[in-house]
Amino acid sequence: MSRTIIALDFSTKDEVLDFLKMFDEPVYVKIGMELTYACGLDIIREVKEMGHKIFLDLKLHDIPNTVKGGMKNLAKLGVDIVNCHCGGGIAMMKAAKEGILEGTPEGQQPAKLIGVTILTSTSQEALNEELGISGKVIDTVVHYAENAKKAGLDGVVCSVHEAKAIHEACGSDFLTVTPGIRLAGNSADDQKRIATPEYANEQGCDMIVVGRSITKAEDPAATYKMIEEAVSYGRV
Ligand code: C5P
Repeated sequence: MSRTIIALDFSTKDEVLDFLKMFDEPVYVKIGMELTYACGLDIIREVKEMGHKIFLDLKLHDIPNTVKGGMKNLAKLGVDIVNCHCGGGIAMMKAAKEGILEGTPEGQQPAKLIGVTILTSTSQEALNEELGISGKVIDTVVHYAENAKKAGLDGVVCSVHEAKAIHEACGSDFLTVTPGIRLAGNSADDQKRIATPEYANEQGCDMIVVGRSITKAEDPAATYKMIEEAVSYGRV
């Protein structure tokens, strides 16, 4: 199974279709708020019908009852992974899980639920000074991952630099999905805690999320293949 999830950060259906045409086989894609807010939930159904696996990255974060209701409706889409923010707390994450279980149609596999720890665009300085959370990024990320595990989640979104510590704290079955991936020489853009696919592999990340390094590449399909090869000999 593919360990590279391609972030479809596009704003139109045409861009999505043109992009996916470049791949001979189904891939694992991430659909986030940019595409969902532009095209609605229909785009998720269409991409799924094309045979692609979907990580629906809507990062729910609200009071437990609202998140539960939201997840219940998202569960009907039959996607493979959904997420919520760990910052909403254990009760909210538990409610998210309940919503998925209640909303998944009978006979279907419930989506895996992962928690967003600290965004990979957040630096050490921003964590301490803007968000008012003291201590090291890695300590907050591991603490959030432990909360996610307590709430019954399947894993977390974190940076490559925290994956090893999370597996040590939460067990090797607890999924680490890592964005902030850049090829050597690529621009970091807005990301702060970045790493190469090779380093992600060494650190034991379960899956990597790659957006611009693939979508803006001269040859996206070849770049995807190269990245998949770089992460294909790891722990999975
Ligand atoms: O283009 P790039 O590879 O930076 O895209 C990363 C993707 O992963 C974006 O879609 C972003 O929303 C998402 N993401 C992230 N950091 C998180 C969670 C999701 O960058 N903590």
